[in-house]
Amino acid sequence: MSGFLEGKNIAITGAGNGIGKAVALYCASEGANIVVADYGVSMDGSDPTSEVADAVVAEIKESGGDAVAVAGDVSQFSVGGDIVAASMDNWGSIDGVVCVAGNLRERMLFNMSEEEWDAVIAVHLKGHFNVYRHALAVMRKQETGGSFVGFTSGAFMASTAQANYSAAKGGIISLTKSTALTAASLAMRGGGPINANCIAPVAKTRMSENVPFGIEMGEAEDIAPMAAYLLSDPGRHVNGQIYTVVGKRISVWSQPEEVRTMMAPGDRWTAAEIAEALPDGVGTEQHPFIADLERRMAEMAAEKEQGES
Ligand SMILES: NC(=O)c1ccc[n+]([C@@H]2O[C@H](COP(=O)([O-])OP(=O)(O)OC[C@H]3O[C@@H](n4cnc5c(N)ncnc54)[C@H](O)[C@@H]3O)[C@@H](O)[C@H]2O)c1
Repeated sequence: MSGFLEGKNIAITGAGNGIGKAVALYCASEGANIVVADYGVSMDGSDPTSEVADAVVAEIKESGGDAVAVAGDVSQFSVGGDIVAASMDNWGSIDGVVCVAGNLRERMLFNMSEEEWDAVIAVHLKGHFNVYRHALAVMRKQETGGSFVGFTSGAFMASTAQANYSAAKGGIISLTKSTALTAASLAMRGGGPINANCIAPVAKTRMSENVPFGIEMGEAEDIAPMAAYLLSDPGRHVNGQIYTVVGKRISVWSQPEEVRTMMAPGDRWTAAEIAEALPDGVGTEQHPFIADLERRMAEMAAEKEQGES
């Protein structure tokens, strides 16, 4: 063991499969004790089993590490508490949380049921809140602080068939940035160092099976080292960032900001004044996914025309 995370106690949701499992095994191989938090469900959230979390715990123990399973549903507030308590009760601290658990209920927005919306927001967004909330209450009192790693997706920008997932992933970014800001303010008041960042992964797992052929794709094991770095002491100064991780590539996202401003000619804008001033004033910003869609439609039309001629 190289021990990059030696002595750290880390809880990982969704650690039973895919990316979460790869993060759990890698962090354990770097010396961390792991809470393997996984409900053991299918992709739509059905058929829970504790066998999935237990199997990863067994794998970590066989390799000489230490781990404990929590086979609860992260969308339940109390399960967030159980996950943090598992680390405290077994090893006396919680030094990092990684929220990887996720489900999918794909549907176009105009057909989406309330249940499909709620189920995805509950596991992804509320699942992050439930663990962050309980962990931060402990970490703020620890001299050694702690780390949060949220899992978002490039789909936070938009998704035609997964508006629920897209909205949850956008919420996770805002929640994580709020955690980062809270952490900074606690540190300024003498608290231990706490950081909070997001990873937007792309990796071959059961969840990405239906992603269209041709998209840049790596393995779940490619994501794990970045999570471990953000959980480590050398990575503790990194705060409020979003990183895409895919294969050999790590990219940082820009921080959103206002880019242009225009001021009302009178006390307050009228709609008519905005209509006249906006195009040459603040204008608009192109949505990259809509631009991409327009480009692909134009390519398809050109191909069809060529085929017909
Ligand atoms: N795979 C990708 O390319 C990709 C792309 C973008 C974002 N992501 C995100 O990365 C994360 C991991 O994805 P993955 O591809 O490894 O998925 P996966 O389906 O392989 O694993 C998800 C795990 O979460 C667990 N889980 C689901 N609901 C749960 C609940 N209510 N409580 C506790 N555990 C629960 C499942 O049992 C499963 O083990 C997800 O948040 C996903 O949105 C993945």
